[in-house]
Amino acid sequence: MHRRDLLKLGAVASGTFAMGGLTRAWWSTASAQPAGIPTVDRLTMTVAVDNVYDIFAKGGKLDTIAVERAPFARSGNTLLSEHGLAYHLESFRGSERREILLDFALTDGAIANNYRALKLDPARADALILSHGHVDHYGALTSLVDQGAIKPGLTLYAGGEDTFCQRVVITPAGQMDMGQLDRPHLESRGVKVVLAKQPTVVAGHPMTTGQIERLTDFEKPPAAGRLVSGPMDSACASTHFGTTRVAVKPGELVFDDFQGEHATVYNVKNRGLVVITSCGHAGVVNSVRQAQKVTGIEKVHAIVGGFHLAPAPDEIVAKTVAAFKGIKPDYVIPMHCTGLNTIVAVQREMPTALVMPSTGTRVIFGA
Ligand SMILES: [Fe+2]
Repeated sequence: MHRRDLLKLGAVASGTFAMGGLTRAWWSTASAQPAGIPTVDRLTMTVAVDNVYDIFAKGGKLDTIAVERAPFARSGNTLLSEHGLAYHLESFRGSERREILLDFALTDGAIANNYRALKLDPARADALILSHGHVDHYGALTSLVDQGAIKPGLTLYAGGEDTFCQRVVITPAGQMDMGQLDRPHLESRGVKVVLAKQPTVVAGHPMTTGQIERLTDFEKPPAAGRLVSGPMDSACASTHFGTTRVAVKPGELVFDDFQGEHATVYNVKNRGLVVITSCGHAGVVNSVRQAQKVTGIEKVHAIVGGFHLAPAPDEIVAKTVAAFKGIKPDYVIPMHCTGLNTIVAVQREMPTALVMPSTGTRVIFGA
């Protein structure tokens, strides 16, 4: 089967965010040094929830990965999709197995349904990672914890204080509430929160990138994103928000540059890096460069995730795909907020690299 056969252009949802300006760099004082990423023999990435569920998406053994699709199920195991993202990541290093949950979709119903349908048991998770503080990524986390679906005492790796601050998106129709994850509540239920601002190895297998240096001149945080300033001296006081170090009154909005967003990266034996951006507000190319820098490994096997280019102009999409071609990943797996514009461009420019997204997809790296 040819990889270009995987392209299905029919049902790709897109986000509504716009791209905007970037101001001063907060990461200039950060020292992201290679911290020794472990090598895993195999990684099985299951997309528990994504925007699209396409029963016609094609799978099969490709050159160096295997793609398994969730079959049509009339009842019981029907998968649900929504504007949200959640991964289950199972990796092997010799006889050592790790399961990690990365992001937690938007709604309890979708993730609970899909975990069950895909036979994924969140109680087996060894660690939790949250990419950033938007509700389409943390949505079901609190209920999973409250219901005891996740083992007590697990560590949740977040990228910064702002992960737990109130967020909104400005739209022509008004403010769209993007939520606020309640850190004290999670901690009261036994979750150990680690702010992984620097590259951090998680449960001995993957690494989080730490806060992402903004290197490219064409990737900007969404212009419409805002943080709601919290009380002075609180973790959500505006003075803590990276590039927006201006004192504003509690309740006022400050530009959101996603200071605490981080990506997740695995080093798969004889393959290279699998970089999972999640939502890519820091820029997918920036995220890949950060992964290369903090691991000290150049070879990128796969670029995975939401690239947040759905609202981007063609020029930005073209520059991103040109950068992809320079990075030379074996596979590009665009999902969630990537946008049809970018999927079409990847198909045109890198047809053998594209793997189409669909909820329930399992990709086996190192197969
Ligand atoms: Fe998102």
